[in-house]
Amino acid sequence: MALSIVILAAGQGKRMASDLPKVLQPLAGRPLLQHVVDCARGMGADRIHVVYGHGGDGVRAVFAGQPLEWVLQAEQRGTGHALLQAMPAIPDEHLVLVLFGDVPLVQGSTLSTLVGRAGPKSLALLSVQLDDPGGYGRVLRDKAGNVYRIVEQKDANRKELAVRECNTGVLAAPAGALKRWLAGLSNDNAQREYYLTDVVTQAVRDGFKVEALPAPTTAEVLGVNDRLQLAELEGDYRRLRARELLAAGVTLADPLRLDVRGTVTAGRDVAIDVNVVLEGRVVLGDRVVVGPGCVLRDVTIEADALLAPYCVLDGAIVGERCVVGPYARLRPGTRLLADARVGNFVELKNATLGAGSKANHLSYLGDSTIGAQVNIGAGTITCNYDGANKWPTTIEDGAFIGSGTMLVAPVTVGRDATIGAGSTITKPAPRDGLTLERSQQKSPAGWQRPTQASAEERERAIEHARLPPEQPVE
Ligand code: UD1
Ligand code: CA
Repeated sequence: MALSIVILAAGQGKRMASDLPKVLQPLAGRPLLQHVVDCARGMGADRIHVVYGHGGDGVRAVFAGQPLEWVLQAEQRGTGHALLQAMPAIPDEHLVLVLFGDVPLVQGSTLSTLVGRAGPKSLALLSVQLDDPGGYGRVLRDKAGNVYRIVEQKDANRKELAVRECNTGVLAAPAGALKRWLAGLSNDNAQREYYLTDVVTQAVRDGFKVEALPAPTTAEVLGVNDRLQLAELEGDYRRLRARELLAAGVTLADPLRLDVRGTVTAGRDVAIDVNVVLEGRVVLGDRVVVGPGCVLRDVTIEADALLAPYCVLDGAIVGERCVVGPYARLRPGTRLLADARVGNFVELKNATLGAGSKANHLSYLGDSTIGAQVNIGAGTITCNYDGANKWPTTIEDGAFIGSGTMLVAPVTVGRDATIGAGSTITKPAPRDGLTLERSQQKSPAGWQRPTQASAEERERAIEHARLPPEQPVE
């Protein structure tokens, strides 16, 4: 049967006590709903419908450009009512998989198994055994073990409340039958809502096979209703992703102190120290070492490179055997070729540092093309912005830039040129020779250190330093 997926995401999430709609709350840096959408995307569904309501257009805007069918549920009248809104767009002969926007960690493999159990005459739902089932609907089974009903917490009697098998909300059933059952729902219950869970009773009555499949892990079916649950799921997510890396052969100093928020591809014998955050697409080559406190987003680190502690890299490519940091910042468009070195408090943006080149201390290199075997002295700054335009700087192979140099772009430093420390370079510096821009050093005879000024002297000096009022400044 062809598959249609419906994600219910119209709820407000009152218990989050937030101005942000619940499904937009971030987990591992992505909205809750994005996690569900990404998982749904992997299922090969014909279409993915999202029932939205609370937060309305704000929610849609976040997902602009993603192929989703948006269905408005103007008033939140329960999960059954929510699903009903999406049904007119779904052909009867489709199988419908229902997901919740606030159950973010559900796994594709689990859903595939579930979908495999549903069919023209069978409904499959995902259940979970919870030690603390508070708030969840309970799965009720008869003496033979067959599921006959789901009862919501607020409607359950004492005996039903003792049941530990809970409804996760995830279910799969044929569209034609679902339409019939949803049309027959009533809101005669404790919450005056149209419960999706009531379709189970109707499925049983219609002679359908109803199966409750236990979820393989608890974390993947836990819902987010408050900030505590969100924080706990963040922890579950962290463990899950760390375990994947460990299984792939990566050494982690502490699996609980690594946050993987994107996709990581790692070579052999990679080592990651504590408090590292990996976002976007991160590629780590063989034997790469990531020091403590590094934050990497959309980066490729080639083999044998070392990131010393507390580096922040975004949109950078680091070549083989490079050494970066501690405390380096590589911004988008940074490319370090093999054996380059970038030291502490050095920032690069849209810049290439050639093979074996070094910028070891306190520099800003922006919009720059730097050749091989270049030495960038401490405190060198490419003045790439004139307040309106960004200008490029080119430094050719083998150049030596003395400390404290200002390179006022656009400017070029020739091959094997030497720039004297403290220079402000505004014109091309020729190849091979020395270029120096520095005023004469003086040691005036008879100079004396200042003494404490009198009140009058002080006032006079300050007065003297004032700009004339209302005069244009030169
Ligand atoms: C629901 C289930 C419960 C299950 C639990 C698992 C029902 C009646 N109850 O309860 O059996 O144990 O999830 O997490 O289905 N939503 C809408 N429109 C609405 C109401 C809800 O789109 O009118 C969406 C919410 O945004 C949310 C999902 O449906 O994503 C679940 O709604 P929620 O109110 O959180 O249901 P629970 O009380 O948690
Ligand atoms: Ca919920």
